[in-house]
Order: sequence, then structure tokens, then C-alpha cells
Amino acid sequence: MVGVVAEHLTVGRVAELAGVSVRTLHHYDEIGLVRPSARTAAGYRAYAAADVARLREVLAYRRLGFGLREIAALVDDPTTDAIAQLRQLRGLLLDRRDRAAAMVANIDRELRERVTAVETEDGATERPRLSGAELYEVIGADYPATRRTEPRIAAQVNAALGDARTVLNVGAGTGSYEPADREVVAVEPSAVMRARRPPGAAPCVAAHAEHLPFPDQSFDAAMAFSTVHHWRDPLAGLREMRRVARRVVVFTHDASEAGWRQRFWLIRDYLPEVAGLVAGRPSVVDLARAVGGRLEPVLIPWDCADGFFEAHWRRPEGYLHEPVRRAVSMWTRVGPAAERRAVRELGADLDSGRWAERNRDLVELDAAELGLRLLIA
Ligand SMILES: C[S@@+](CC[C@H](N)C(=O)[O-])C[C@H]1O[C@@H](n2cnc3c(N)ncnc32)[C@H](O)[C@@H]1O
Repeated sequence: MVGVVAEHLTVGRVAELAGVSVRTLHHYDEIGLVRPSARTAAGYRAYAAADVARLREVLAYRRLGFGLREIAALVDDPTTDAIAQLRQLRGLLLDRRDRAAAMVANIDRELRERVTAVETEDGATERPRLSGAELYEVIGADYPATRRTEPRIAAQVNAALGDARTVLNVGAGTGSYEPADREVVAVEPSAVMRARRPPGAAPCVAAHAEHLPFPDQSFDAAMAFSTVHHWRDPLAGLREMRRVARRVVVFTHDASEAGWRQRFWLIRDYLPEVAGLVAGRPSVVDLARAVGGRLEPVLIPWDCADGFFEAHWRRPEGYLHEPVRRAVSMWTRVGPAAERRAVRELGADLDSGRWAERNRDLVELDAAELGLRLLIA
């Protein structure tokens, strides 16, 4: 016995080598997971090389997050060779990943519903619970899937920025439309959005448009793309932009009945709830007046690269895709019931040809005037 034990390791030594506690080894022995194949004359555990190899395998599975019972099944199954074991392990991991993905999807759905599911007094329609940057803390992770710079609109923004060398991008999100050939500083209040800025993007400050942490006239220009409608106080934000920069360039929409809600078929025919969401907001004319600016129409190309709300005006089936909707806050803001209804009705109208019939004049256009505006001051 002692001769055999001479080539064995004590429990203390194995614990030291494997980086686990003696207690863990005792436990593994008690449950039959890693049994030392010998005992010293005094009855102490003695581990042979094969025991240590088995322990190494067990710990490798442990590090991958497997439970002890799963590990026992893996290492004890005499029918599995190493490749079969790895395949089994891979299968288990994929299963876990799918279960985790399903849980994340459920949590996201629940979060979205909680963000919007506030009923009005008449119990009929829903009102958004969160707005502005708080909303982007919930929906921001889905943003980059379809939101990116549309070069033709970027060219219009660039022209409006004129000869500005230093540019402040307010409500910058992931950095779309930030001109690469100018010195840019970004402002973005949502941490989720800031975290999604690509490597090498302009430096980004956590702040709100309404209180820009910069001295007067510290930039040649300040720009804001597709964000003013999220600000708690748009007029105050625009005045702040005016204060810190000589020039102001804002991409927004004319939310009036005639300007946008009637022009854009998605609102007009499928999402009347939008009217309630924009009620009480300053008009685009009020915004322009606040900074002494002028308004320039922005046409949306039929194959717009940026997936903003209006982008799929000539590709209506786009709105039937969940990732397209999830990257646009309006779909969350109208609430899940309105969203489900709009998608169902649009799908039915596309199938029956009713959409095509109603929007016959759009199908021929390469770019559409849907009430989007560049405010230049
Ligand atoms: C539709 S995203 C636009 C992002 C980016 N400008 C783009 O074009 O992709 C709106 C952004 O406005 C930000 N935002 C919301 N409230 C804001 C505020 N008060 N001041 C500045 N940004 C705000 C949101 O966090 C979000 O990142």
C-alpha cells in the first residue's frame, strides 16, 4: 500500500495544484465525482495521475458553468469519447444560449410593455411612461441594428454646417451624421447609447441639450439629428445650442397635421395615436423662431440607409419586421396594442393590394417630401 501511495499526491497537494479547496476535493470524493484511487496507511486520500486528470476535466466543465450532476454524466459515460463529449458539451451550451436568448427577449418585451403600458383615464389608449434619454436606456440596445448614416442626407447636413471646423453633436446617439473631417464633440445623455458608439467615434459627454456644459460660443456649429422631439424642453435645448455655437443645424420633422401626419401614410392610415404623442409640442416654426433660423425640406430617398421612422415609406413591408420597429422609438411610444394593430392592418393591406392602391403615386417616386426639415440658424 505504501509503495503504491508513493506515486500519489496528498489531498493538500492536489488542492494546491488545482487551485481548489481541500473541502471541495472532499466533497467531490463524497459524491463520487473524483475519488482518490488509494489511501495512505493512516487512511488519508491519495490521488493517482489518472485521478488528477479526471479532476482537471471536471474543473474544466465547472469553469464552463456546468452543474456537478451534468459533469458526472459527462465524465462517467463510457460510451462517449472526447469528441462526442465536446459535441455534447456544445449542444448543452447552445441549449443554454437559446434559453438565455429567449429569456432576454421576454425581458425586453416586458420592459417595453412597462415603458408604455399606462392607460389613460378612459382606459382606452396607452401613454408612454418613459421619454427622452430614459426611454433610450430601455430601447437603445436595438438602435444600431438599422440606424446608420444616410449619405444623401448627410451631404445636406454637411452643406448646412458650412465652413464650421468645430462641431458639437447634441443627442448624438451612436454617432450617425457626425462629419469625419471636422473636430466633433458629442453630447448624449443615455449610457446605453454612449456604450454603442463605435471605436474611434468623437469624444462624448454625458449631458442634456437643455444644459450644455460648455462656455458661450465654444463651437463653430452645433448639430442635432433626429433628437429634438425627445427633449423635455426643446426650445431651451435649441437656445443652449445657439449659446454655445455660431451656427445651429437641426434635423427634425414638422409634426403638424398637414406637414407630417397627413403626408406620411403610416401615421395617417395606421398609427393615429401619433397625434396624441406630439400634442403640445412646439411646432417646427416655433423651433426655428427660437433660434432665428430657416427651414429647408429634406427629401427621403426611397432606399434610405438610415432606418428612421419614415425611412421605409416606399418599402412598406419593412415595417412588418420587428428589428426595423425596435430601432425606432415611435413604435415603443405608441404602445404594444397600437403596434400590434398597425402591423396587422398593414400586413393585411399589403396582401390585399389595398396599400398599393392607396399609395399609387408614391411607388413612382425616388425621394419623398414627408415633412422632414433641416432647421438652419
Ligand atoms: C433617435 S436618437 C438619435 C441619435 C443620433 N442623433 C442619430 O441620428 O442616430 C435620439 C437621441 O436623443 C437622445 N436624447 C434624449 N433626450 C435628450 C436630451 N434632453 N438631450 C440630448 N439628447 C437627448 C437619446 O438618448 C437618443 O440617443
